[in-house]
Amino acid sequence: MTILVTGGLGFIGSHTVVELINQGHECVIIDNLSKSTIDVVNRIEMVTHKKVSFIKVEMLDKTAIRKVFQQFSISAVIHFAGYKSVGESVKQPLLYYQNNLFSTLNLLDVMQEFAVKKLVFSSSATVYGDTSIPPLTENLPLSAPNPYGRSKLMLEEILRDLVEANTEWSVALMRYFNPIGAHTSGLLGEMPYDTPNNLMPHVLKVASGESAKLQIFGGDYETLDGSCIRDFIHIMDLAKGHVKALQYVEQHTGCEAFNIGTGVGYSVLSLLRTFEIVTGEKVPYEIINRREGDIVISIADVQKAENMLNWKAQYQLEDMCVDSWRWYQSIKGYV
Ligand code: UFG
Repeated sequence: MTILVTGGLGFIGSHTVVELINQGHECVIIDNLSKSTIDVVNRIEMVTHKKVSFIKVEMLDKTAIRKVFQQFSISAVIHFAGYKSVGESVKQPLLYYQNNLFSTLNLLDVMQEFAVKKLVFSSSATVYGDTSIPPLTENLPLSAPNPYGRSKLMLEEILRDLVEANTEWSVALMRYFNPIGAHTSGLLGEMPYDTPNNLMPHVLKVASGESAKLQIFGGDYETLDGSCIRDFIHIMDLAKGHVKALQYVEQHTGCEAFNIGTGVGYSVLSLLRTFEIVTGEKVPYEIINRREGDIVISIADVQKAENMLNWKAQYQLEDMCVDSWRWYQSIKGYV
């Protein structure tokens, strides 16, 4: 059975493809290469020792998606393709709504056409907004603080409506917390193309001497050390969660949301300390003003994924730091 992976050359997509192949699935990757390069295909093949099918597809072009479904016998889809920068979404909301909504609507239309009704959808913990008290459970009221988050929330709602109207559909909404780390081989990780927004890419730049200092946004939050707390999760745990979600949608119908985190929170400062200890690298930092829109504490309740997907994160924060650093050193000067 062939699984279509959209955005399969991105950070989460590429690691998920590796895990799918390891579990014996056939994969077809589509990606428009806007935030990735074709080289990731080689990297996936190096890691898995298998050939993968890749087609460059712009998902705003429905005909291009249809061609893929004509060419391959797709049984289920894992949909990662989409823009993901919060800051960029605030500056260019139309771009975000256009890209994230229309590409998904095109995909769903084509899936309907070909009677493919199993979907694992890449959502985000951002749909919990900033008012709920952690640990966050899947049944909390939802709201999103920026256009990126709202595009995810709208898509979750669209998918719920679709499943409501078509009871044979099966959809898993994957609400990611803070994915970091890299494949343990050092061959696959997050490609540092853009100016980073997230914490770990900044830590790596400082540790490698490319940036002088890490700026920590806020040191006066009501937490033990004053910095924000996040539920960091290893990218390979996240990838494995998708394989379990795929099994779930194959065996059930309906629409279910799943938190994909560890259930454990670490502060920004404790991530830094752990990184320094396990890598032996210094990460100079300064504490500056709070970043607008940051929530103080984000931690997943992971019971539902454990019970219904039979999945639980295995990697520790130390592994996430070591693997991120190994990856970053291997691509230094590469991009
Ligand atoms: N941080 C710094 N300095 C930096 C970068 C980040 O101090 O240079 C801090 C942030 O203020 C925050 C923490 O590190 O306290 C984590 O920040 P990230 O940007 O890495 O992650 P966020 O939790 O803000 O955002 C992540 C995803 C979003 C998603 C959101 C909610 O990147 O896509 O979780 O689920 F919307």
